[in-house]
Amino acid sequence: MAFLRKNKKSYIINNKQQMADNIHPIFDRLLQRSDREQRLSQKSKVLWLTGLSGSGKSTIAQHLERKLHNEGFFAQVLDGDNIRSGINNNLGFSLEDRQENVRRIAEVARLYLNSGIITLNSFISPTRAIRQMAKDIIGEADFVEIYVNAPLEVCEKRDVKGLYAKARSGAIKGFTGIDAPYEAPEQPFIEIRTDEMSIEEAVDAIYNKIVAVISL
Ligand code: ADX
Repeated sequence: MAFLRKNKKSYIINNKQQMADNIHPIFDRLLQRSDREQRLSQKSKVLWLTGLSGSGKSTIAQHLERKLHNEGFFAQVLDGDNIRSGINNNLGFSLEDRQENVRRIAEVARLYLNSGIITLNSFISPTRAIRQMAKDIIGEADFVEIYVNAPLEVCEKRDVKGLYAKARSGAIKGFTGIDAPYEAPEQPFIEIRTDEMSIEEAVDAIYNKIVAVISL
């Protein structure tokens, strides 16, 4: 195992070196992000929804996606459970894997961003450092942090996927909020208390605050 790991590391180093030598990203494309934004009549942004499992992130993201669509915006949800069953299906829930999960998502969101599309990224993204990394990849001006907040007791009571019960019984180890950390954002663009408002109220509150940011 140690041998494999060592080899993997040297592969990554070689690969990085090869990339530096042989990859030439194109920065001055003929078609710019601003052209696509004009075509879509919107400013592309990454709306980053963070919060505990069961806080309501993905539900809100989906309703907000629908609302944005109805209002004439072009938006796409990227959701933890879906991404993890596809592009990130080789990742678990160690801090290292969560970091890699978020890194890849942020890179994908950056591609969407440059396509003029608004993405709604629904990921626990549990630590400030992990979200800072996402912000650094995406760029501060385009990263809009939305804290979907419900107390742990409420999320645990909802237990939509039955995962909190499994975490309490020890069947799942390292579950966010139980035996793995969640660090709340210090200065989110907006905070939504899903235990105090309906889905519709939450979606309207976010929409009303972001509409100026995403309008041309
Ligand atoms: S993150 O921490 O890497 O951002 P992500 O949002 O992609 O997590 O995935 C979270 C979802 O995975 C949860 O909503 C839950 O359904 C599932 N899950 C499975 N195991 C865990 C775990 N140990 N901690 C948190 N969520 C888990």
